[in-house]
This record gives sequence, C-alpha cells and structure tokens, in this order.
Amino acid sequence: LLVDKGNHRHFMAKEIHEQPEVISHTLANYIDMAEATVTVPDLGIDPEALQRVTMSACGTAYYAGLVGKYWIERYARLPVEIDVASEMRYREPPLSQGGLSLFVSQSGETADTLAVLRHAKAEQQRIAAVVNVRTSSIARESDVVLPTLAGPEIGVASTKAFTCQLSVLACLALGLARARGELTREEEHDLVQALIEVPRHISTILRNEEQFEAIASMLSKARDVLYLGRGTSYPLALEGALKLKEISYIHAEGYAAGELKHGPIALIDENVPVIVVAPRDELFEKTVSNMQEVATRGGQIILISDAAPEAVGCKVAAHIAMPTACEFTNPLLYAVPVQLLAYHTAVIMGTDVDQPRNLAKSVTVE
Ligand code: G6P
Repeated sequence: LLVDKGNHRHFMAKEIHEQPEVISHTLANYIDMAEATVTVPDLGIDPEALQRVTMSACGTAYYAGLVGKYWIERYARLPVEIDVASEMRYREPPLSQGGLSLFVSQSGETADTLAVLRHAKAEQQRIAAVVNVRTSSIARESDVVLPTLAGPEIGVASTKAFTCQLSVLACLALGLARARGELTREEEHDLVQALIEVPRHISTILRNEEQFEAIASMLSKARDVLYLGRGTSYPLALEGALKLKEISYIHAEGYAAGELKHGPIALIDENVPVIVVAPRDELFEKTVSNMQEVATRGGQIILISDAAPEAVGCKVAAHIAMPTACEFTNPLLYAVPVQLLAYHTAVIMGTDVDQPRNLAKSVTVE
C-alpha cells in the first residue's frame, strides 16, 4: 500500500486536510443527498423494539462513541451505555436479550474492543461495528458493518477516522430516530441538510489555519493544559486533551465544564491555558459561567466558539472563530480546531508527529 504525504509535512496534516472529502464520501454512503434523508443499513433488529444500545471502543474511537451516545439518546430517545473496552471486557456486564452492541474502531483490530465484541456475542447481542478497515477482525465478526470511508490513516493520532466515525454515528442516530418515530420528515430533512454542509464548514476552518500557530506557540510553553466542554463538546474536550498529550507530550486534561468546581479549578493560575470548546448552543451560558470562574483565578482562556469573545464577559487570551452551524453537527466542526491545536503545538515542540513515542497505531495485544 503506497500512501504519500502529498504537499504536507506530515501524514497527520494531510489527513486533517482530507476531512472535507472523506466526510463527504462517508456521508454519501448513508444519506440520500438529493432528498436529504437517511438510509441506514438494516440492523437486523426492530429499532422500535430496541430497549438499549451498548457501546464500547478505545482511545479516540471511544470519544466518537461518546458523542454518538449523546446523539442516540437525544434524537432516537434510546438509552445508551458506553465504556472503554479495557474496562467492559472484564466487567462483563449482563446484557439483556435482543440488545444491540455497537463497536467503533478505525483499525478493527484493537484487542480489547474485539474481546468485548466476543462477550457481547456470547450474550446474544446483535453486533454492529463502525470500522474503517473492511477486512479487519472486528468487521468480520460483526453482524452489520457500518463502514467509515476515511481511507488509510497513517498518523498514529487519529483525525479523519474520528470525524468519519462521527459522521456514521450521526447518520445512525437519525436513522434510529426516524425508525422509532422520533423525527418528523421536516426535522430529518433539516438535520441531514446540516450534515451535508459539514464539509463546506470544515473547509472554511482549514482556510484559516494560520491563526492556530500563535495559539500553539502559547500552548508550547505550558506544562499543563485544561480542556473544557459541556454536552457533545465534553467528548471533544476529552479528545482535544488526548490529541495534545499524544503528540506534543504536554500534560492535558479534558473535563466536563460543570465538574470544574469539583477539582480542576484548584490547578488554575496564570500558567494554565484553559481551552474551552463552546459553540453557541443551549448550554453556552452554562459554559460562560465556568469561563468566568477560570478568568477570576487568572487562567488563560482559549475560546473555540462561533460566539464573539465579548459574549463571555471576561478576559479571553485567544479566540478561534468558528462558523455558525446547526447544533447537531458541531462536534464534527469542533474536532478540527482541536486537531490543529495539537498538530501545531507538536510541530513547535519538534516531536515526531506521525509516530509519537510509546504509541502504536493499532493495539492488537493487551
Ligand atoms: C490506538 C491509536 C489511537 C486509536 C486507538 C483505538 O491507541 O493510537 O489513535 O484511537 O488505538 O484504535 P482503533 O483502531 O480501535 O480505533
């Protein structure tokens, strides 16, 4: 298999820039572009009879799954349990008959995820998997494969596979919602239309890449970084922190913004950059009050938002201006600045961006 970096310095940069294209490809597999409707493959299970979905994955794929949980619960009104595969495999949770187990994996070879899949099979679950490698073990052992069409991902830190996983999970949530009578035709149309617009919004973000260098330079001087978000921005904060530590080796923690006062606020001083993923959604005002708590303690706020920094009523050290989109699709858009911040920080730190120390692309042993 021959894949080159094209005009990019690293595979990771190339893969970040491929996102508008690979997301389009992936979406085209699940939606009717002309009609703006979803067409999710038959899960072999009646969505109306479904009581619960159990999800499991590792690393970045787990964070995609976490966003999926918020979406499936919100739009399909279906309870979702999710856990990292290394925990779920030994916890061996009881799974009620006729349930759906959903796995997310780029490689389809992650040992822990595969172990949970086998447990779920033994518990008579219907097995569906969102996978990038069609010939992988996870794909082969699943009843239903929901492919991501990200193409080969070479950079160890996952980028385009993540946004393609989000694309599939978004379509699955809408497909389940429609089948369960939770979506009107009009709502379905609007939400699918919002998905169709995602690649265009991401291209806009990628056109303004220079702004990330100055902020990355600020991050490169930090010892610790805190990432905050609420709702579907919470998994994005977790993913942002993971990306940053994976490739720049700067310690970063992702936290639910509402948990700030239960611990991480004790860390805040003028040396701790606090990156806040805060689209102007229904939780925006709640996140704003958390930012004010950070500002009062001298924390350096880096705001990623479609809202102007003036809207937060406190000092903001840097602002990454985001396009305004439908609340539903925000995780897809906000994944990109989070990737670019990690990438540019790692470039400044001079680390091996595509092959970070101690990490493997695919963890096939426990
Ligand atoms: C490794 C990779 C991550 C990936 C995780 C899960 O840790 O470095 O980028 O998110 O495994 O891999 P999978 O192939 O199951 O998505």
